[in-house]
Amino acid sequence: MNRNVFITGASSGLGKETCIYFAEAGWNVFAGSRKTEDLKEIANYKNVKPVRIDLEDGESVKEAAKYVEKECGDSGLAVVIHNAGSIFFSPYEYMEESSARNLFEVLFWGPFALTRLLLPSLKKYKAQTDQNAKVLNVLSRAAWNSDPWTAIYAAAKAALLRLNDTQYLELKSSGIDVTSVIPGLIDTPFIGKSVSMIKQALFEIPEEGKKHYLEPMTRLAKISEATAKKHMGTPPSFIAKKIVKIAESKTTEISYHFGTDTFIYSLLNRFLPRTVPVWMTKKIFGL
Ligand SMILES: NC(=O)c1ccc[n+]([C@@H]2O[C@H](COP(=O)([O-])OP(=O)(O)OC[C@H]3O[C@@H](n4cnc5c(N)ncnc54)[C@H](OP(=O)(O)O)[C@@H]3O)[C@@H](O)[C@H]2O)c1
Repeated sequence: MNRNVFITGASSGLGKETCIYFAEAGWNVFAGSRKTEDLKEIANYKNVKPVRIDLEDGESVKEAAKYVEKECGDSGLAVVIHNAGSIFFSPYEYMEESSARNLFEVLFWGPFALTRLLLPSLKKYKAQTDQNAKVLNVLSRAAWNSDPWTAIYAAAKAALLRLNDTQYLELKSSGIDVTSVIPGLIDTPFIGKSVSMIKQALFEIPEEGKKHYLEPMTRLAKISEATAKKHMGTPPSFIAKKIVKIAESKTTEISYHFGTDTFIYSLLNRFLPRTVPVWMTKKIFGL
């Protein structure tokens, strides 16, 4: 029986690695990207099919779901992985509302709609096997603790975490396991792109705002630059292999977290008052 997986954000970073490991493990992979030409390299792998999907565009999400459902046919879809993501940096007071809404489309409303559109195919898979179908939401430590200048990223990841936990409770009886993968820093192009975005944000802040934000945001840019240069994040291949393992296991937890930073914050959040992680964040960012 075919095992089909649909992964969004497959053109780069964690999504790309995850596609490769699923393909090597013998899965049929539907690799989602807004620019299918970006998938040329992984489309060379046996059993990887590119799917055009732009999560900012509701019509594109519907078209992609229709295509994947049709291609999966009677086997149904075993796993969908909401991995696509981006970020922007801006002090709350100068943030463009349109940028905030667009990011919420990518990180929350896109996965919200896509899971629902794919439920019939996920249920079809479950009807034929003794294993549950799965929905994996790739979140971030930001879903637990906010950092400055990334309010919307954190808000959208936290919103998806709440949706994840509700879906986990509600969809189990339909044979669908829902789980979140919560990484800390991952060594992907995401961090390098972040450095450019912080610099751009600094450039766009009005003079009056620079008195508050120039110094701490410059510090963030330097930390991010060093993180990218020294490859301090978890290798994406490590998390990708874990994701394949989660997809193939009979049982599924409500969440899995990876990375030293995520581990530290999970301990702080569990055992200490909220003032402690907030104090730590203030120290890191010089606020
Ligand atoms: N890297 C980290 O430190 C880190 C930490 C915690 C969580 N995460 C999460 O991990 C996931 C994967 O990120 P990554 O580190 O692999 O970053 P990445 O290398 O930048 O990859 C992000 C992927 O998402 C796609 N994407 C962005 N906007 C999209 C849209 N509107 N429609 C469709 N696809 C879109 C990108 O496509 P394009 O190439 O077309 O832009 C790319 O394929 C994200 O959800 C991210 O929030 C990352």
